[in-house]
Amino acid sequence: MIEINNITFEYNGLKAIDNISIKIEKGESIAIIGPNGSGKSTFLKILNALIFPSSGDYIFNGEKITPSSMNNQIFSKKFHKKIGFVFQNSDSQLFCSSVYDEIAFGPRQMGLSEIDVKRRCEDCLRLLNIEDLKDRVPFNLSGGEKKRVAIACVLSSNPEVIVLDEPMNGLDPRTKRFFRELLIKLNQSGKTVICATHDFEYVKDVFKRAIVFSKNHRIIRDDHYDKVINDSVFLFENNII
Ligand SMILES: Nc1ncnc2c1ncn2[C@@H]1O[C@H](COP(=O)(O)OP(=O)(O)OP(=O)(O)O)[C@@H](O)[C@H]1O
Ligand SMILES: [Mg+2]
Repeated sequence: MIEINNITFEYNGLKAIDNISIKIEKGESIAIIGPNGSGKSTFLKILNALIFPSSGDYIFNGEKITPSSMNNQIFSKKFHKKIGFVFQNSDSQLFCSSVYDEIAFGPRQMGLSEIDVKRRCEDCLRLLNIEDLKDRVPFNLSGGEKKRVAIACVLSSNPEVIVLDEPMNGLDPRTKRFFRELLIKLNQSGKTVICATHDFEYVKDVFKRAIVFSKNHRIIRDDHYDKVINDSVFLFENNII
C-alpha cells in the first residue's frame, strides 16, 4: 500500500530524514519511535503529502505522490480521502467555529448529502464520547478534548490509513487508555494505523511493528514492536527510554 524508496528531506539544507526506505501493507499497525528531532513528524508529514521529499520516491497504492500529482485536485481529493492525519498539535488542525462543523468538514468536502454527513458526525461524536461538545468552539476546548475532536475529524472521512503524531501527549491516564482501546478497535476493523509515540506504558498490544529513527534521522531498526520495546539496552543507547 505504501512504498517509500530512499527518501531524504531537508529543511533549509539541514537533513531531517536521511535516505529511508519502508514498505507498509494494508492493515498494519506501526509505531514510529525515536528521540526528539529524529524526524518522526517530518516522516508523517511526508506520508500525508503535506511536504515532499528532496529526493527519493513515495508511492501510495501504486501511484507516485509528488507536488505535481497533488496539484491535480481530483487525485489529491482521492488521496486525502484514503489517508487521515492527526497532528501533534491539535491547534494546527482545528479551524471551524463549532465541533460539529469541524467533524462535518471532511464528509462535506466529499460531497455527501447533509443526511449522510449528520449520520457520520453522530457516529464519530459517539465513538469519541464527545456528544456534549458538539456545539462548542474547538479553540476553547481543553487539550484532551481537542485531541478527541481532531481524531473524530479524521475518522469522519473514513480513511483507510490513519496517521497519528503522538496522540497521547499530555493526556490524562483515562484518556490515554481510551485512545489505546480506540487504536486497537480501528486496526481490528481493518484500518492501517501508523503512530509516532513515546507513551510505551499506554500502548500495550496496539502495535505489531516498530520503526525506529535515530538522532541521525535514519531508520536504525524495523522489527516486531514487542521485540523492540523489550530491548532496553537498545532503547537506552538510542535515547528512547
Ligand atoms: N519547519 C521546520 N523548519 C526547520 N527545521 C525543522 C522544521 N521542522 C522540523 N525541523 C527540524 O527537523 C528535524 C526533525 O524534526 P521532527 O519534528 O520531524 O522530529 P520528531 O522526531 O518529530 O521530534 P519530536 O519527538 O520532538 O516530536 C529536527 O532537527 C527539527 O529541528
Ligand atoms: Mg514530532
